[in-house]
Amino acid sequence: MPTILITGANRGIGYALCESYLKDGWRVIGTARRPDAQLPEGAELCVLDASNYSSIEQLAVQLKDIPLDVIWNNAGVYLDKNVDFAQLDTQTWLATFAINTVAPIQIAQALQSNLAQSTRKVLAFTTSKMGSLEHNGSQAYAYRSSKSALNMAVRCLANELATQKISCLMLHPGHVKTDMGGEEGAIDKATSVAGMRSIVDGVESNNYPSQNSQFFDYDGSTIPW
Ligand SMILES: NC(=O)c1ccc[n+]([C@@H]2O[C@H](COP(=O)([O-])OP(=O)(O)OC[C@H]3O[C@@H](n4cnc5c(N)ncnc54)[C@H](OP(=O)(O)O)[C@@H]3O)[C@@H](O)[C@H]2O)c1
Repeated sequence: MPTILITGANRGIGYALCESYLKDGWRVIGTARRPDAQLPEGAELCVLDASNYSSIEQLAVQLKDIPLDVIWNNAGVYLDKNVDFAQLDTQTWLATFAINTVAPIQIAQALQSNLAQSTRKVLAFTTSKMGSLEHNGSQAYAYRSSKSALNMAVRCLANELATQKISCLMLHPGHVKTDMGGEEGAIDKATSVAGMRSIVDGVESNNYPSQNSQFFDYDGSTIPW
């Protein structure tokens, strides 16, 4: 039975990812900030505050020697949604980068040996098309640039992890109806998850580097950097 770790599993896309993998018989370990968080039935809960490095270290201790076929760095924040340029402050910038950019890379560092021990060896990252330099727009300076920076860091990481045949995938989930995406989202969570899974599930260490280090839309098309 393959094992997946999903961050930000208590709601939104992370919750839907848990449900989907559980349905297919995977062992699912989901993270949430609160120990009393509700995950889908059958998922194992680990507490993680991605903005706190010691919490990431504790997660690594808890998961020591558990092979993780897929680590899905999904947790994220959009703290400057509808924030005017004039109102954007340092705290918002730094908190956004800590959670969206730094934490996913630190999680990869801390859990690298868990991936290396597994069969599939996949590191998936929920990034955003809003981080594409080509598809840029106005507003959301912190959110957009945190995802652009994540993309760059993951490309470096992909080179670093190539010798271990660990694949790194960057996935835009679409504009999804969640707390973050809002009711105006274009697609539901199930559509997003099914699309992203068809990319992630096709990757294994024995077909490395088939899709390594690309920036995918949920429908399988690629997005320019
Ligand atoms: N929805 C969209 O349209 C859309 C589009 C593009 C990209 N994305 C990306 O997709 C991912 C999931 O988004 P979503 O729409 O599902 O968002 P969501 O419904 O707001 O859920 C965000 C998840 O991240 C967790 N999280 C936030 N800060 C955290 C922290 N410091 N430590 C640990 N977990 C933390 C939240 O936990 P709490 O419940 O404790 O806050 C929650 O589980 C994000 O990376 C987002 O940037 C979403």
